[in-house]
Amino acid sequence: MTKTSKKLIAGNWKMNGSQQHVAAFFQRLSQHTLPNTEIVVCPPSIYLPQAAQSLKALPQVKLGAQDVSAHLPGAYTGEIAASMLLEHDCRYVLVGHSERREYHQETDAQIADKFFAAKAAGLIPVLCVGETHAQRLAEQTNAVVVSQLSDILSRQGATAFDGALLAYEPVWAIGTGLTATPEQAEAVHLLLRETIDGYDSTVAERLSILYGGSVKAANAAALFKMPNIDGALVGGASLQAEEFLAICESNK
Ligand code: PGA
Repeated sequence: MTKTSKKLIAGNWKMNGSQQHVAAFFQRLSQHTLPNTEIVVCPPSIYLPQAAQSLKALPQVKLGAQDVSAHLPGAYTGEIAASMLLEHDCRYVLVGHSERREYHQETDAQIADKFFAAKAAGLIPVLCVGETHAQRLAEQTNAVVVSQLSDILSRQGATAFDGALLAYEPVWAIGTGLTATPEQAEAVHLLLRETIDGYDSTVAERLSILYGGSVKAANAAALFKMPNIDGALVGGASLQAEEFLAICESNK
């Protein structure tokens, strides 16, 4: 993933939406002159075929999935392989979202497996990292986010992040209305970039690092002014087309 001056805004719908919502959302996007931003929408996987159909008229908007199996197709009930996501025009996939870490006990090793499975199939993985409130209070933020990179770095080095994205999502800011201040977020983004830079400066320079956690139109512009914040991963506010578009337009 080559970093450009363009911000990348990804909407994570989580387990929300309906066929009607998919139709109305993309209809609204198609009526709008889209800003000079990379736009990614991650609906629940069952809506990817419908979304892919709607996006034929909106080539600027790309599709992402919220999770992927670490395995190749086979006897893994309930899972979806990276190759299947690609068949439905999916380009991106979130891995290691804190809700997967918390509710499905995903470990860094399993997340690394998913990351590599996505990359091997030709998807762009978006690795999500972030500390809990207790970890921030205990001043463990830096140690936590760096440790969440370490399985991937130890297995394939920094080149693993060529063709990938990072998303810093403090767990305490997700769905709570509490956003990290631009300065708090920038400090972690800089640390993430410096960590990768310790392995490979070219990869570090090119890497896009998104911020996530209660991003909305009212706070996006201040976050986007920070030098190491290359875009946003937006949950709740990505469900409303108008609000999502306003976030996408905040990079001015
Ligand atoms: P939020 O979610 O914007 O609703 O806080 C962000 C995310 O979980 O990706």
